[in-house]
Amino acid sequence: LATILKRSTTSSFLLRRSYHSSESQPERKVTVLGAAGGIGQPLALLMKLNPLVSKLALYDIAATPGVAADISHINTRSLVNGYMGDEQLGEALEGSDVVIIPAGVPRKPGMTRDDLFNINAGIVKGLCTAIAKYCPNAVINMISNPVNSTVPIAAEVFKKAGTYDKKKLFGVTTLDVVRAKTFYAGKVKVNVADVDVPVVGGHAGITILPLFSQATPKGSNLSDEEITALTKRTQDGGTEVVNAKAGKGSATLSMAYAGAVFADACLKGLNGVPDIVECSYVQSTITDLPFFASKVRLGKNGVEEVLGLGNLTDFEKQGLENLKSELKSSIDKGIEFANA
Ligand code: NAD
Ligand code: LMR
Repeated sequence: LATILKRSTTSSFLLRRSYHSSESQPERKVTVLGAAGGIGQPLALLMKLNPLVSKLALYDIAATPGVAADISHINTRSLVNGYMGDEQLGEALEGSDVVIIPAGVPRKPGMTRDDLFNINAGIVKGLCTAIAKYCPNAVINMISNPVNSTVPIAAEVFKKAGTYDKKKLFGVTTLDVVRAKTFYAGKVKVNVADVDVPVVGGHAGITILPLFSQATPKGSNLSDEEITALTKRTQDGGTEVVNAKAGKGSATLSMAYAGAVFADACLKGLNGVPDIVECSYVQSTITDLPFFASKVRLGKNGVEEVLGLGNLTDFEKQGLENLKSELKSSIDKGIEFANA
């Protein structure tokens, strides 16, 4: 057990005995918007297990009283409250340090993430308008798809409200990293708990660009064909789950895990823990695109530093060029919608 605990990094809170009280930790309120959904419920559960959280606010348009009552019985640090409907959104948000947003409809087989735009863009715009009013300083973890567009929508809403802080707005791309790590470890036969793989770009199809040349630890050498196949599987990971669920939604459990890992990293950053680095889709200048996912150092103010791409292979350079036009049009679509 000691070896496992030593080895574990960002996901360590999932392994720790987390039901000790954490008097030494600062008070931190986390709000989940969409908390009664397929992602929201297991994510709420995982946040309830996180000893860095002192208050957990669970908001949805329906069913949150039951979810909150259920989760509130777990004997961990945070106090849990459920909020339902527009009139309780302000109370759910007030005083939040981190707001996680998995609100919105998921894909069915045959759909792209962009097909969700018409419904989810409006949901995100409404929720971000309330965030600007009730917790303008919170760190935002955007999960709702299409992330490539919902993050620019959020930025525009916050700009209009005069509350935009580029350091505090994150598109959650952790599931791409989680998948890349799992698929890489399975292929090169290394311990998955030791694996790191940066994933850059965005969060849809070819805009998801795993950098397997930078994966650690190095195992058996990967052929070009194997790297191409690993890249494609990572890019199509969401579709793999959508098809397997056959109309019953998209990834929820692995996403809840990924969302909990990323929120934990944000909380650690806010609390001043050094060297917290995760990939995330943020406002960026490392390419000519205004939003881009890459490694980001997290700190007391959110983004401390957007890290560069490092050395890319020709295959990765080509992948970067190929993704730019799709990512740019998704960003532009979000900006246009928010300003319409
Ligand atoms: P779901 O339908 O199971 O749950 C969504 C929840 O959002 C529902 O409970 C619904 O009532 C709620 N909701 C709708 N409108 C709302 C509003 N205005 N305010 C608050 N809550 C509202 O869907 P899901 O499977 O949990 O997926 C949610 C979203 O997350 C989808 O857009 C999906 O595509 C996305 N997603 C993103 C990633 C990622 O990697 N970023 C991964 C998986 C899913
Ligand atoms: C995922 O990557 O699993 C999510 O973005 C959901 C989806 O629609 O694929």
